[in-house]
Amino acid sequence: MDAIQLLRGLTRLKNRRLHLGVAGSVACYRSAELLRHLLACGIHVSATLTPGAKNFVTPLLFSSLGAVPVYPEMFSGEEPFAHLEPGQTCQALLVCPASAGLLARMAHGLAQDMLAAQILAFDGPVAAAPAMNTRMWNNAATRDNVALLKSRGVTIVEPDSGLMACGTSGEGRLADMPQLLAHALRLLCEQDMAGQTVLVTLGPTREPWDGVRFWSNPSTGTMGAALALCAWLRGATVHAVAGPGIGSALVPALPGLTLHQVTTARQMFARASELWDTASMGMFSAAVADFSPRPYGAEKFKKEGTDTFRVDFEANPDILRTLSEKKRPGQRLLGFAAETAPDMESLMALARKKLRRKDVHVLAANRVNAAGSGFGSATNAMAVAGRDGREEFWPEMGKADVAWDLCSWLLHS
Ligand code: C5P
Repeated sequence: MDAIQLLRGLTRLKNRRLHLGVAGSVACYRSAELLRHLLACGIHVSATLTPGAKNFVTPLLFSSLGAVPVYPEMFSGEEPFAHLEPGQTCQALLVCPASAGLLARMAHGLAQDMLAAQILAFDGPVAAAPAMNTRMWNNAATRDNVALLKSRGVTIVEPDSGLMACGTSGEGRLADMPQLLAHALRLLCEQDMAGQTVLVTLGPTREPWDGVRFWSNPSTGTMGAALALCAWLRGATVHAVAGPGIGSALVPALPGLTLHQVTTARQMFARASELWDTASMGMFSAAVADFSPRPYGAEKFKKEGTDTFRVDFEANPDILRTLSEKKRPGQRLLGFAAETAPDMESLMALARKKLRRKDVHVLAANRVNAAGSGFGSATNAMAVAGRDGREEFWPEMGKADVAWDLCSWLLHS
């Protein structure tokens, strides 16, 4: 599982419409890959390539991959109002990659090519992912154009630093694919979680026993990464406190999504406690070790002459329970229960009990002993219980969709 796979599993934006603008840059080929990911989410994508982009990639590539329509250049097609169409049919517009020239045309309303005209006639959310040589990116003209576009509400997907096709190294490389996909999806989302600050705990914790060994569990943090991403897509400011494992790699670097990496339950407790003061929602998906071994020491324990040995454990703080006790009016909590229940009915009974014991608004339980629902799986089948008495069984779904629906439930609980 990686962040792209996780996001590709999100079907809740199915049938929304995005217009993809492609401007002239070596990075054009990556726009074709982005198109495939968007289509996998069930999104309808139309596209326009600038004359510059057509030197690198062809309209045929985009239409063959599934973009409908791919617009011809101004004054070359039969449709006289094609420059107005995306503004009438699409919910959002993303330019990827955006060249220095295209950013300048956007900033100054120069509508001499089809894409620039379509952008000018678009009044929904617009984002641009710049890609260009570092000197062009740093030039005062580009800096001013970018600042102007930002001031008008255009989202700039900040470029990365690194080695570029021209052989130089610096800022100006197109953002990476998880960032591009996340931004594209966010443009299509109602920002119904804007103003929320969400704390998410995710992944396992590791409790060191000696200098090289630890006590842990197989959690990967996939469910928590999905929650963090969904809350971000819907406009929330997100703090993800992640234990070790792949979960952190599933959380891309995005503005307003901060990753806090911790190792032990006590570190997770400390960081989550700090962040809880300013949070409006808490989503506690981490598989926190309930006990820590009393450390043997910083050295590696030697097995020589030892057939059996005892390890003493001491209880860790229950992060969810403690923060729930400290909650202010208005703070909402989502708890999880990973259980080895024999069936979904008994899982619901456990969810109901844990809802009360942890005093949360929503409790989502899954059977870790069932196929398609356990640690690290791409899917989850849930028994969800709400404080208001609402109870639902959810069939096996991708974790991004589960996260989306849990965000909705918590938001309206
Ligand atoms: O009691 P149990 O471990 O089954 O509760 C699970 C829920 O409590 C999950 O939401 C988990 O993230 C949270 N939890 C916690 N701190 C612990 C143990 C569990 O936050 N020490």
